[in-house]
Amino acid sequence: MQVNLRSPWSIGPVEVPTRLVLAPMAGVSVQAFRRQGRRYGAGLVCSEMVSCAGLHHRNERTLGYLRIASDEHPLAVQIFGSEPETMAEAARMVEAAGADLVDINFGCPVKKVTKTGAGATLLDDPERACRIVSAVADAVSVPVTVKMRRGLENGSRTCLEVGPRLVEAGAESLTLHPRSAKQMYTGEADHSLTAEFVERVGVPVIASGDITSRARAQVVLATTGAAAVMVGRAAQGNPWVLREIVDEDPAEPAREEIVAELMLFMRETVRELGEQRATSFLKKFYGWYLGRGRFPRPFKSELTQLPTIADVEQRLLIAAPGAAELLERLEDDLPADEIELELPISIYGGG
Ligand SMILES: Cc1cc2nc3c(=O)[nH]c(=O)nc-3n(C[C@H](O)[C@H](O)[C@H](O)COP(=O)(O)O)c2cc1C
Repeated sequence: MQVNLRSPWSIGPVEVPTRLVLAPMAGVSVQAFRRQGRRYGAGLVCSEMVSCAGLHHRNERTLGYLRIASDEHPLAVQIFGSEPETMAEAARMVEAAGADLVDINFGCPVKKVTKTGAGATLLDDPERACRIVSAVADAVSVPVTVKMRRGLENGSRTCLEVGPRLVEAGAESLTLHPRSAKQMYTGEADHSLTAEFVERVGVPVIASGDITSRARAQVVLATTGAAAVMVGRAAQGNPWVLREIVDEDPAEPAREEIVAELMLFMRETVRELGEQRATSFLKKFYGWYLGRGRFPRPFKSELTQLPTIADVEQRLLIAAPGAAELLERLEDDLPADEIELELPISIYGGG
């Protein structure tokens, strides 16, 4: 049975207009990425994981992750940590910043995070995981959700035991990335496990992992019973894949369109991170936008060598002069009230 990707669904009182969710990705999911995702058909977008310890210490860079624009909603802000009280405090800050959902990270496999008892390690400590979910759910009035892996070890089925307990503790939706933490991003996401998971948990499930096309999205939705699919790596520098998945529009973007979207992304990222941070942050995006056979390889490496963002913009416009007009139109369409959260001015300046 074909699922209509343009049909709405809900997490508690939060209505999500499409069955496509843009994945949280550390080092990628900046505001520009999320806004672009919404424009191209994602019904829900998510911040990258935000450290609850960083929020507790009012670290400026961490606080910067809480800036939300008016055209991002519905939006989840994801937090990670291992102490229920600190997580609850972080959740209150996330709610105050205007997030529609608080998402908890029980999936991060990276050592730096797991060695602090946070991320995927919590799947092996369900008592603590449940205490975190319940403390966070008690602290906020917006729905609380969890994103998790299948377990720590390859072949683990831990998620099937832990998932229902997290729901009992207060999670209103679960995202499953059915790889083990040990696998990192190798092998394949096993969505037959997602189907079993959906059967057990009784709340809407978002299926994450290896969704790269409309065909794949349809198969995963139809065979798992998940409420929505999540797209991560396939959308890096490629919002057009979202349009293809939701609207059955496989049209390859024109060069001008690619360059205009990239330049808008660059400008917004400079505003969010400041010129210095944005300059290095953006380098990986040049390859992502201009790759996939869209531009010659030497052109991509040339861009990463250029010293300033202004130099990159100039070079891009030489390659696709028609992009200037498109970019102007895209900028005109952005809402004026870009930043809703009152934060110290130094944060807006980057740093
Ligand atoms: C660079 C990168 C950063 C990620 N950061 C996060 C994160 O902050 N929080 C999270 O829950 N998942 C994170 N993930 C996992 C993705 O959300 C997603 O579950 C995973 O990439 C599988 O989906 P995909 O095959 O569509 O990429 C990250 C993945 C990548 C590639």
